[in-house]
Amino acid sequence: MSKTGLNGTNGTVGAAGASRTRARGSGVLRCGVVGVGRMGRHHARVYAQMPDTELIGVVDANMNRAGDVAEQWNCRAFAGVDTLLAAGVDCVSVAVPTTGHLAVAQQLLAADVSCLIEKPLAGSAEEALKIKEAAEKSRGVLMVGHIERFNPIMRALRAEQATGLPIIPRFMEVHRVSPMTFRSVDVGVVMDMMIHDLDVVLMLMGGREPTEVHASGVPVITEHEDICNARLVWDLGPQGRCVANVSASRLALKTERVTRITGENAYIKIDYAAKKGTVIRRLANDIQMQEVRDQLRKGRDLTDLKWQELVNIENLTINDAEPILEEIKEFLACVRTGNKPEIDATAGFVNVRTAERIVEATRADWVGWKPKVEVAIREPGRAFTR
Ligand SMILES: NC(=O)c1ccc[n+]([C@@H]2O[C@H](COP(=O)([O-])OP(=O)(O)OC[C@H]3O[C@@H](n4cnc5c(N)ncnc54)[C@H](O)[C@@H]3O)[C@@H](O)[C@H]2O)c1
Repeated sequence: MSKTGLNGTNGTVGAAGASRTRARGSGVLRCGVVGVGRMGRHHARVYAQMPDTELIGVVDANMNRAGDVAEQWNCRAFAGVDTLLAAGVDCVSVAVPTTGHLAVAQQLLAADVSCLIEKPLAGSAEEALKIKEAAEKSRGVLMVGHIERFNPIMRALRAEQATGLPIIPRFMEVHRVSPMTFRSVDVGVVMDMMIHDLDVVLMLMGGREPTEVHASGVPVITEHEDICNARLVWDLGPQGRCVANVSASRLALKTERVTRITGENAYIKIDYAAKKGTVIRRLANDIQMQEVRDQLRKGRDLTDLKWQELVNIENLTINDAEPILEEIKEFLACVRTGNKPEIDATAGFVNVRTAERIVEATRADWVGWKPKVEVAIREPGRAFTR
């Protein structure tokens, strides 16, 4: 299919300045990807296959990798962001390692190019703030790729919320564990894995950062925490408190990604891997609970009652669309309309700052701590060296 640029042009208009204006509307968006490793190649595939986008090119520090992806999707391979910009792009996914997000994002945003930055926004709150400031000066849109929000089960939960299930969380229990993959070992398990859950938990708390952060964590094979438990507390004033108990490990022998939310009005269990969600609403169980309370008050023996049969359990309705496709659709919709993405720079920054507070709380336990054996990861998947 031949794809033309917006307003009938297919030229190589420099992205700076003109880009955002060209992007608005319903025409073809000119897209790029910087960093085409494990995540970035999926972004390239989606842009290449969408009907209203044209994948102009990909950038990677490894030119062979850029060349392979470019060949696969029939686009150009560029050696740097400057040459991608010169080719003219409206929006770009940034999927270089987290430590490289700031430099790439600053260059793109300064040219008014919209950015979808892989999670986490940056490796530190200081860098995340710099990206947020760059986004505020730019005419480009910035969205952070917290993909779990686009997981079918999370989408189902959000759809429920929109149709009258206000979640007022009081207690959240979150588990995310998996075996070590030897990827993303430049950061700890908090920035690598727990950040997914922090995004969801903070979203459920309306973007409010926790008042208190308590955490414990242990470095086992990297120099960062490989396993961590955090207790986050929100002081909600006259509305009481909410607590989230969040655990993450990259040293487990199994994979589990489960969140349980106990709220004022409902209990919700989300199993991301099984794409299953169950809801027990207070209202739907009011009559049975009243009956049980009455019986207990009268001193009746209810030990024969089967709790599971007593309670009304609803399953969330799942639409199994691919999360990255949904994420990119939302990003592009914001680029076209100029609307602020839900996961904007502020949300990304708040997630990183909370993660950093957790890491700091964890390290407070390590005063005087030194690894028994000093190890460094040599190569992914290989034995480590002393
Ligand atoms: N959303 C998710 O579920 C998820 C999962 C994994 C990783 N990530 C995030 O995606 C990002 C990339 O992770 P990955 O696992 O794909 O890493 P990766 O190492 O597989 O890929 C990164 C690529 O970027 C290239 N690169 C490095 N620096 C560059 C630069 N300055 N300019 C251009 N190219 C450069 C590398 O050559 C490599 O090909 C990270 O921020 C990571 O946290 C997100």
